[in-house]
Amino acid sequence: MSGQLNKQKVLVIGGSKYLGLAIAKQASEAGAEVVIGARNPEQASQAAAQLPLASAIRVDITDEGTIAAAASQLGHVDHVVITASAHHNVRVQDLEHDKIVTAFEAKVIGPLLLAKHFAPIISPAGSILLFSGVAAWKPSPEYTVMGVTNGAVAFLVSQLAKELAPIRVNAISPGITDSGTWNVLGKQNKRELLESASVSSLVGRAGTADDIADAAIWLLGAGFVSGETIHVEGGTRHT
Ligand SMILES: NC(=O)c1ccc[n+]([C@@H]2O[C@H](COP(=O)([O-])OP(=O)(O)OC[C@H]3O[C@@H](n4cnc5c(N)ncnc54)[C@H](OP(=O)(O)O)[C@@H]3O)[C@@H](O)[C@H]2O)c1
Repeated sequence: MSGQLNKQKVLVIGGSKYLGLAIAKQASEAGAEVVIGARNPEQASQAAAQLPLASAIRVDITDEGTIAAAASQLGHVDHVVITASAHHNVRVQDLEHDKIVTAFEAKVIGPLLLAKHFAPIISPAGSILLFSGVAAWKPSPEYTVMGVTNGAVAFLVSQLAKELAPIRVNAISPGITDSGTWNVLGKQNKRELLESASVSSLVGRAGTADDIADAAIWLLGAGFVSGETIHVEGGTRHT
């Protein structure tokens, strides 16, 4: 990957932790000038301090004002990666209106508004990379909001790719990946989730952050791929 993103500016929103940070690290190793975007400026700066040539910027994907301000401050970028999500993993009977709306803001409305403000400053050979997820293709109780928002992302990339061309717009749909986000479940529940993900994949394991970051770096440089959702989930949809 060394040099693949030489001299390219890559904004990673959600870059202060988990998959976003893994992608930011690999982008940096590939020669990019990385900008870590996060709603918590301190966390963004701490992540940026780990990488050569990196800087930090405040972006809350649910707040259009911060998106517009970031576009105006940066002036030009080659690629924008958005890993932001807001989980509302409960059974249908326990759904809460505001949490459903926030989940859509993080995955669908925010990226739409990001396209509005960033398309004019993204290089014509550049791209936007969104995150969908396997829950869209494998319905499961408690993951309905995640499934529906991830499914919307797959339609969003084809719509945006058409309108923003030649800027490429793609998504990665990860399978269950041990990025750090599942630590909230506690050790035992997390182990069970990863074991069940291994059983339901064709390759006998859950994903690693590097599995997803490898695919992300490839997609940023894949000049003949646009409007696609790339499934990086060990074939889980086929089991
Ligand atoms: N890990 C998996 O198993 C898996 C599976 C399928 C799909 N995915 C998708 O892959 C993407 C990345 O997942 P992940 O594993 O890294 O965990 P995640 O918990 O989904 O990470 C979300 C990231 O977005 C940031 N974020 C949340 N709300 C934000 C906001 N309003 N504005 C800006 N940033 C915000 C979080 O940072 P702060 O909260 O600190 O702001 C964090 O960096 C997500 O879209 C997720 O749905 C992951």
